[in-house]
Amino acid sequence: MLELVNTTGQRPRNLILIGFMGTGKTTIGKRVARSLGMKFVDTDLLIAEKAGKSIPTIFEESGEDAFRSLETEVLKECRERDGQVVSTGGGIVTRPENLEILKSSGYVIWLKASPEIIFERVSRNQNRPLLKTRNPQKTITDLLTQRDDLYAGAQHLSINTDELTMEETCFGVTESTKLALGID
Ligand code: S3P
Repeated sequence: MLELVNTTGQRPRNLILIGFMGTGKTTIGKRVARSLGMKFVDTDLLIAEKAGKSIPTIFEESGEDAFRSLETEVLKECRERDGQVVSTGGGIVTRPENLEILKSSGYVIWLKASPEIIFERVSRNQNRPLLKTRNPQKTITDLLTQRDDLYAGAQHLSINTDELTMEETCFGVTESTKLALGID
């Protein structure tokens, strides 16, 4: 059952999208935000803005830990605001403290996809430092194994996108968000 009450006892007014790299959080988040009249934000973009550097440069110069600290900072800042669709980085669930922040920020939907589909999607772009390995396909499977329970612990609803078109996924996300957030 949904527990959509934040620390101030009020109903949170954000939609938070979580899930592995390449599951469509940004594309779907933008479309859903448009149809719900909400603001779209992306934690990776907020981090890059804050640091004044791209995500790969942050990883390269300062390491993953520094990136994760910035990620927690921007997530906390998002929680202070309402009326947003927040697309999060795929590793946001790896910091235990983020799980509670995510759940208290709004309605959390976990977008799922199979390792094969993820691999196909992420192969098209080189912006993911964690996948610059000798065998990205294996890295995806390993990271998914490590993270699946974490996503499961942070979500209010999960949607398996493998068999869905983009329109169908957007429809599911939009309609469940309307119900969860009490939007007409
Ligand atoms: C990461 C996912 C990326 C980005 C960074 C680390 C991860 O975001 O935050 O490269 O650990 O899975 P996307 O999920 O938007 O690709």
